Amino acid sequence: MRPKTDPLSVLCEGDPWRKARAARAMHAAICDGATVVTAAPPDRPSRPDRPRLVPARSLAKRKLGSEEGRAALLHAIAHIELNAIDLAADMIARFSRCEEVADRRGDFIRDWSSVCDDEARHFVMVSDRLEQLGHSYGDFPAHGGLWDAALKTRGDIAARLSVAPLVLEARGLDVTPGMIDKLVQAGDTESADVLRVIYREEIGHVATGMTWLRHVAAFRQLDCRDLFRGMVVEHYDGVIRPPLNHDARHEAGLELTYYNELTLQPRI
Ligand SMILES: [Fe+2]
Ligand SMILES: [Fe+2]
Repeated sequence: MRPKTDPLSVLCEGDPWRKARAARAMHAAICDGATVVTAAPPDRPSRPDRPRLVPARSLAKRKLGSEEGRAALLHAIAHIELNAIDLAADMIARFSRCEEVADRRGDFIRDWSSVCDDEARHFVMVSDRLEQLGHSYGDFPAHGGLWDAALKTRGDIAARLSVAPLVLEARGLDVTPGMIDKLVQAGDTESADVLRVIYREEIGHVATGMTWLRHVAAFRQLDCRDLFRGMVVEHYDGVIRPPLNHDARHEAGLELTYYNELTLQPRI
């Protein structure tokens, strides 16, 4: 009998380090041929008591010239990566049984377990660097609204694919090169190197989102761009904010024609 694995082992783990280990174990099991057996995922994954979750606007602006400021930036990225682990596990638990992906269910599961594994590595890399700067994940307050997009898109695979990888992760591609430059300017090449690894791999995550949105659009016999735009307007605030990294977006297959009309134009 083939062994089994379950993304709920990731989603229902509250300790962040054990969650990352569970994600890596799930992916290893899937690569070894384990069958995914899962139940309906929780609306909110388990999380630790710390960090304290606060509205994004109440988070202090980070000044990267100081070590404390760089630690706060790494902490914010670790928090994003922890959410990303859960998003990938939730993609498998919630959407791998959708009729739109039934013909390629194994590929869908492998793709998102690979993303989940990357996110777990990202969390560990960033948290390890944070420890080198004298802090741990949980030491700073964190953005309390990161899971809101997951809640808003839990009912439709096209909505989830449009908003999570193709708006939110694409946003990471837009802003990360600027962070890397600032870290290098501040002399923190170790943190910059960690962000470079993440940046390269996130291009792949956006590409995975594009692959599956195209697949869903073909199943529904819809134009993929129209589907994307409609989902972003309905399930997100419908606005893509500059700065935009067109080169990285293009490399991931997310073409300007998808988001041009949604882009907030700078005020003249
Ligand atoms: Fe990541
Ligand atoms: Fe990612």
